[in-house]
Amino acid sequence: MHANSRPVTSSQTEAHSHLSRLVSRHISSPYQKPVMPYNRAAFDLFVQHWRTAGEPPVILDAGCGVGLSTFNLAAQFPRHFVVGVDQSADRIDRKTQWPGPPPPNALLLRAELADFWRLMGEAGIPLERHYLLYPNPWPKIGHLGRRWHGHPAFPAAIALGGTIECRSNWPVYVEEFAMALRQLGVTGVATEAYAPSQPITPFEIKYLASGQQLWRCHAPIPVEVIASMQSNV
Ligand SMILES: C[S@@+](CC[C@H](N)C(=O)[O-])C[C@H]1O[C@@H](n2cnc3c(N)ncnc32)[C@H](O)[C@@H]1O
Repeated sequence: MHANSRPVTSSQTEAHSHLSRLVSRHISSPYQKPVMPYNRAAFDLFVQHWRTAGEPPVILDAGCGVGLSTFNLAAQFPRHFVVGVDQSADRIDRKTQWPGPPPPNALLLRAELADFWRLMGEAGIPLERHYLLYPNPWPKIGHLGRRWHGHPAFPAAIALGGTIECRSNWPVYVEEFAMALRQLGVTGVATEAYAPSQPITPFEIKYLASGQQLWRCHAPIPVEVIASMQSNV
């Protein structure tokens, strides 16, 4: 594993001044881009596997990359069904860094998250846990709208409920994520420096090996926030 990853550098050193305005806009105007057929097909495959497994509680590993974290989470939560979703067919198909064969309670899918989140919501399938592990930081100041909390589908992601957790090596990302959650009405949002004893994703392994500080934000999504986001999407 490479130990030569550099920390994020950005001219943005604190939460973006337009974050609150952007989140407000996304709360008041639902994301209406049509769902792509390949995402619907991936979602249908998820439903098929999940039903066959007896419809256990669902964990979503959003932006799972090569899927190592999906497998690790499946081992950590054997009574849950863990679905790893990534838009990169290359990463999903790589099958490198897997510790062994896929666990029976894990599924990797190539899909775009904004569509997958909305399809989960339409089908009324809630999440028990929702991980966004080391999303692309998009550190340029003009990139706010590309970060998950600045994305128009963010309310649809939060409408799925569960305990959400975002990890990053860029503290500004985690701070903004927490601010966006609070703006949606989520109480009990925690942010902290994070030093895992057992790293679970290739990026986490790489950053730790490079001596970087990691950060995370986590919060249970309250039922009233779920209801309010559902009425909104
Ligand atoms: C920096 S990588 C982190 C991968 C993995 N979570 C890890 O920690 O090793 C971010 C991942 O998010 C995926 N991604 C970015 N935007 C996405 C989207 N709209 N839908 C699905 N996956 C996306 C990328 O393909 C990439 O694999």
